[in-house]
Amino acid sequence: MRAVDLIQKKRDGGELSREEIAYLIQGYSKGEIPDYQISAWAMAVYFQGMNARETGDLTLEMAMSGDQVDLSPIAGIKVDKHSTGGVGDKTTVVLAPLVASAGVPVAKMSGRGLGHTGGTLDKLESISGFSVEMDRERFFTQVGEIGAAVIGQSGNITPADKKLYALRDVTATVESIPLIASSVMSKKIAAGADAIVLDVKTGSGAFMKTLDDSIALAQAMVDIGTHLGRNTVAVISDMDQPLGYGIGNALEIKEGIETLKGHGPKDLEEVCLILGSQMLVLGGKAKDEAEARSILKTHIEDGSALAKFKQIVLAQGGDVTQVESPDTLPSARTFIEVKAATSGYVESIQAEQIGIAAMLLGAGRETKESVIDLAVGIQLSKKVGDAVAAGETLAVLHVNDAGVNKVQEAEAKVLEAYLISAEPVPPQPLVFALVTKDGVTRY
Ligand code: URA
Repeated sequence: MRAVDLIQKKRDGGELSREEIAYLIQGYSKGEIPDYQISAWAMAVYFQGMNARETGDLTLEMAMSGDQVDLSPIAGIKVDKHSTGGVGDKTTVVLAPLVASAGVPVAKMSGRGLGHTGGTLDKLESISGFSVEMDRERFFTQVGEIGAAVIGQSGNITPADKKLYALRDVTATVESIPLIASSVMSKKIAAGADAIVLDVKTGSGAFMKTLDDSIALAQAMVDIGTHLGRNTVAVISDMDQPLGYGIGNALEIKEGIETLKGHGPKDLEEVCLILGSQMLVLGGKAKDEAEARSILKTHIEDGSALAKFKQIVLAQGGDVTQVESPDTLPSARTFIEVKAATSGYVESIQAEQIGIAAMLLGAGRETKESVIDLAVGIQLSKKVGDAVAAGETLAVLHVNDAGVNKVQEAEAKVLEAYLISAEPVPPQPLVFALVTKDGVTRY
C-alpha cells in the first residue's frame, strides 16, 4: 500500500477500506507517513467526506492508538458527557455532582483548554488545593465511595488523534464533520464510557454555525457510538451567546456553585437539567426525561447536589470553605465596565469574541505554555433580549496584569461582540434538537 494512492482515491471521491484507514493512521502514528501526506489526505476528506463505515473505522483506529481505560471495576452504568466547546460552558462543574447525587457514577476525565477560557480542570483548580492528578486506583476508589471524580487525562489516550488534531489545526481541516466526529468519539470510546451524552453547540461561538450542520455532526457521532455499542444521544444547544454570565475560571466556578444552590442563571440551569436528564435516563436511574428532571430538581432544592460537590472538593484536596463562601475564590484587582454606545435591545453576543477577550485578559492560553490567571475574565451584565440604554454597562472586565494594550483590545472586542437592535428581541431557543439512534426531534 502507498499513502499517495490512498490520498488520490479519497481526492477522487472513493471509499477507503478498514485496512487502508488503519494503514494511514498507524503509519502516521509511527512517523512512517509524513505530515504533508496526512495533511493532503485530511484536505481530501474535508472536500469528499467519509461515509458512516469509514468514520467508524477511523474512530476505532484512533481509539486503539493508545491506552484504553477499563471502567468495569466501577459498578453501574458509566455515562460520560462531552461538549463540543463553548464560551462560559461550566456544565461539567454542575453536572458531575448533580448527576452523582442522583446515583449515576461520574468517572470524568477532562481537559485543559487551549485558547479562549480554560478547560474544566483549570476551572476546578481555582479552588485552592484542588488536585486533578490521581492514579487510576484512587480514581476508581473515589468514584466507588462518593460517586464522582474529575481528573486530567492520564496516560496515553488516543495519541493518533492528538497528532492529527494538531495537524488539522494548522492546515484548515478542523471543520470537517467526519474528522470532528471521529476525533471526539475516539476519546470517549478510549476513556471507557458505557453511554455518552453529547452537547453539540450551534451558533456563532460553535464549530458548527448552522443548525443543519450541527445536527449532521450530532448524527455522525450518535451513529459511531451506536455502531460501537455505546448508547449515545446528542443535545443541540445554543452558542449564539455565552452560557451564563461568567467567563473565566474562578468566575465560572462561582456561577457553578450558585447553580448547584438553585440560584444560577436560567440558561445554565436549563442546559444542565436537559443534559443531566439524558444522563440519568441512559444511566438507568429514571424511566424518562420528565422523571429525571424532577429527580435532579429535587437534588438541587434539598442541597444534596451542593453537598456532593463539597464531597468531591474535599476528596480531591480542595478548600471546602471556598465553596461555602465563594467570595474567597481568586478575585481580580481591577474592574472595567464596558458601556453601551447606543440604546436598544441585545440581539446577539458573539461568543467567540467574548472568549478571545477573556483570553487576552489571561483567562485562557494563547500557547500551550501560557500560564493562566484564574481570577480574571468577563462578567456579562446583559444577555440576549435585555433592554439597554446608552451608557449602561454591558459587561465588566475582571483584570489583573494583562497590560494596557491587551485590556484595550479586550474592551473593544467585548463592545464589538454585542449587537444592539432598535427593536425588542424575542426570547431565543436554548436547545434546538435531540438526536438519538431513532432520529432527530426538533424542539
Ligand atoms: N474537538 C475535538 O476533540 N476534535 C475535533 O476535531 C474538534 C473538536
